[in-house]
Amino acid sequence: MFSIYCLAHLWVVFLVAFIVVAASGEQSPAKPNWRTWAPYRPNLYFGVRLPVPDSLLMGLMWARGDDDESIAHSLRDTCEQDEGMAGYGWTKYDVRTGGTQLIHDQELHLDLQTDFAKSPDGDAWAVRVSGTPRNDVPGTIKTMVAFHLAQEDLNAEEGKELKCKEAPEALSADQSAYITCEGEFPYLGRFEFWASGRATNKLTGEPVVRQASMPKDEIWRAKSAFVDQVTSGGDSVPNERLGNMQFLQMTFEGPFQVDFIYKPKGSPPVSETVTTLLGLLESQFDDRLRTVFPISTAFEGEAYTKFTASLLSNLLGGLGYFYGDSKVDDSSAPEYAEVDTDFWTKSEQAMSRAEITTTSPTQLLSFTPSRPFFPRGFLWDEGFHLLSVIEWDLDLAVSVVQSWLELMDDDGWIAREQILGPEARSKVPEKFQVQYPHYANPPTLSLLLPIILSKVTKASPYLGHTSQYLDPSDEATDLKSLQELYPLFDKHYEWFRRTQAGNFSSKYPRPEHAVSEEGYRWRGRTPTHTLTSGLDDYPRADPPHPGELHLDALAWMGASAKSLLQLAQHLGLESEAAKYSKHLGDIKRNLDILHWDKRSAAYCDATISSRGKYKRVCHLGYVSLMPFLLGLLEPEHPHLPAVLDLLSDPNKLWSPHGLRSLGLADEFYGKGEDYWRGAVWMNMNVLAVQQLHALAVTGGPEKIRAARLGAELRRNVVQTVYNSWATTGFVWEQYSDKTGEGKGSRAFTGWTACIVLITGLEFPGFEGEKGNQGTATPAKTNVTTTIVLVLAAFVLVLALVVLALAATLHKHRVMAIWEHLKARFQKATGRDNVTYEEIIDLDDRDTSHNN
Ligand SMILES: *[C@@H]1O[C@H](CO)[C@@H](O)[C@H](O)[C@H]1NC(C)=O
Repeated sequence: MFSIYCLAHLWVVFLVAFIVVAASGEQSPAKPNWRTWAPYRPNLYFGVRLPVPDSLLMGLMWARGDDDESIAHSLRDTCEQDEGMAGYGWTKYDVRTGGTQLIHDQELHLDLQTDFAKSPDGDAWAVRVSGTPRNDVPGTIKTMVAFHLAQEDLNAEEGKELKCKEAPEALSADQSAYITCEGEFPYLGRFEFWASGRATNKLTGEPVVRQASMPKDEIWRAKSAFVDQVTSGGDSVPNERLGNMQFLQMTFEGPFQVDFIYKPKGSPPVSETVTTLLGLLESQFDDRLRTVFPISTAFEGEAYTKFTASLLSNLLGGLGYFYGDSKVDDSSAPEYAEVDTDFWTKSEQAMSRAEITTTSPTQLLSFTPSRPFFPRGFLWDEGFHLLSVIEWDLDLAVSVVQSWLELMDDDGWIAREQILGPEARSKVPEKFQVQYPHYANPPTLSLLLPIILSKVTKASPYLGHTSQYLDPSDEATDLKSLQELYPLFDKHYEWFRRTQAGNFSSKYPRPEHAVSEEGYRWRGRTPTHTLTSGLDDYPRADPPHPGELHLDALAWMGASAKSLLQLAQHLGLESEAAKYSKHLGDIKRNLDILHWDKRSAAYCDATISSRGKYKRVCHLGYVSLMPFLLGLLEPEHPHLPAVLDLLSDPNKLWSPHGLRSLGLADEFYGKGEDYWRGAVWMNMNVLAVQQLHALAVTGGPEKIRAARLGAELRRNVVQTVYNSWATTGFVWEQYSDKTGEGKGSRAFTGWTACIVLITGLEFPGFEGEKGNQGTATPAKTNVTTTIVLVLAAFVLVLALVVLALAATLHKHRVMAIWEHLKARFQKATGRDNVTYEEIIDLDDRDTSHNN
């Protein structure tokens, strides 16, 4: 203990070192510090590990601390959908430095704060856990806190050692050590870990160390191992290493603050610096947030800043490291070609016969859609996650893209859902665990390429963390990384073309002039579901048909071709660029020939009718918008007006809470499991706002309408997510198109968080309309502000009176201005019947979008 006590006084040295590093910009790029300790177990309320296969797995648990019984029944460890939480999540978090998480445990009457900070090199870290009884608490509460440390794969390597012992000792006037551990692992060297707390903490009983021995693939089950220990009355066994799990347990009465600290032996401590570190992080975070994701004047109030901080922090806090084997059906059964008319029943039979392969372990650094419900990697979600992350931390985003592409097999396939290892599998029903190498998913990662390129070429500003790719003294780095990415993207693209190809044999009629081979069909659909498209229950042709062509699949290929064309051009790969250019041209042509339905005035799926005819299947919704959402319609495109009509029609896709996934008039609207059949999904809405914004900026005949719609849609979706967050404490998977309420799984700060991309957009000429004032934090009023308010009100009234007088006096002048505006507008649009609303009023949805 003496050594810790001494080192505790070295914090000044550490802090100075930290400030010097922080002030000089970022840490050295030798080892990006996301390759070090971080809360990379997002499935836990707080869990730390290294992003390497064989790590020390750590995490925080807490419970009602009255007795063993209540501990066993109220223990919190993994994020759960419904555990009586009135919201939890990071209020500020940056992968490179750390952050603050708040957990409102309503059921246990406790507010917890976890402040995590790591040293600049990432080799040492600390988490400060502060517990505050909630206002609604009856009497005093006892809270049990336990930190678990598990040694993955203990027996794989000799020389791993971890010993923990109770060691109560005063560290300083206001800090006491409770438990200390010392360990040595081959890849970590010697290290120390300890728990210490504020001297004012009211401990009940002595801190104890418990140990457990778990089989290798159950090492992640800290919760049940601990409950077993507690309920079996297992004594604590100090000074001896019995098992591969250690629990540092202590119980407090009332409020408490306890630090858990990890550091290599001999390096300066982090404990006393937590507060200072977080102060520093906070100011840096706020500044960066304001520049990277600004908030338009359409949204006023401090609460919106808190809101975007929370969205971004929870997106970043959802970053996890996963390692383990997965289940794959690589039987290549002939039925998987899906060529027969009843292909889905034959596929199902083949699947039930198939032997499932357990792959060798793979690793993945990935963001996650939702910590309680989807704590694992999803291919098509990841593109949306990274759209925001790129702006914040380009190098981290590129690292994550690389990690995903490393999962690609020799054919070019990437499993759409990454369920690696037993811990990840524990959250997935068995029938959904198996991945199929003939199944695709929207290739959203390719959407990132033009953005990365625009940063590298400085065509668009980059305001996030310092990036090695933008270092002017090192142009080789960006080119090298892009050169490495290109063949992988290309391979996946070719895989998709091959495996999801539509059938252009003479067996099925295709419209005249269609370019042969440029049409696609998602494999793996059933009469009610096309999980592979990402839009699960969105209605498609019924019954399914092997001659079907899916509009969204073609649009995704178009978006990929467009992205890869840019990359090939940037890398000077001429023949490759020519290939993509041809594909893109053919795809655009076929979108109109294969998928444009004149009668519905919309883009639609297509199938073969029972009489063998080519037939379009029109369920108006997100699928119909895909060519627009993916940037494949030029501003002058003849179908653009109709697409905007569809989008803006309140009887079709427009709702006060964003664009609904399926039109109000569709026979399947709101039916069945009602997942992609009406609810508002924010990833699609963000794409819509971005495209409308692009149109408003680029021009073309729809410029003005696009600006108006974009401004309104942006306001609607930001407010929907904001209002729901302010009332429920959560961000949701989807939102009701009727009420705006959050639906589906909560704490869904995966792609819903990408609305940070649109909060700052400006719509020239349409910024006027204001969102409701942020109300999550009611302003404190005091006497001074009251006086100021009264004075302000008085001045306002006076000003209004003067204005009213002026207006009366200048009525004729005002009319003249109106006439002038009207004339200019008529000239600009070439129309005579210009209404006042069109120029001025942006609010009246019902009357203005039924064109
Ligand atoms: C197209 O359909 C025919 C007839 O069912 C089948 O023989 C052929 O393999 C199919 N081609 C593709 C690319 O699916």
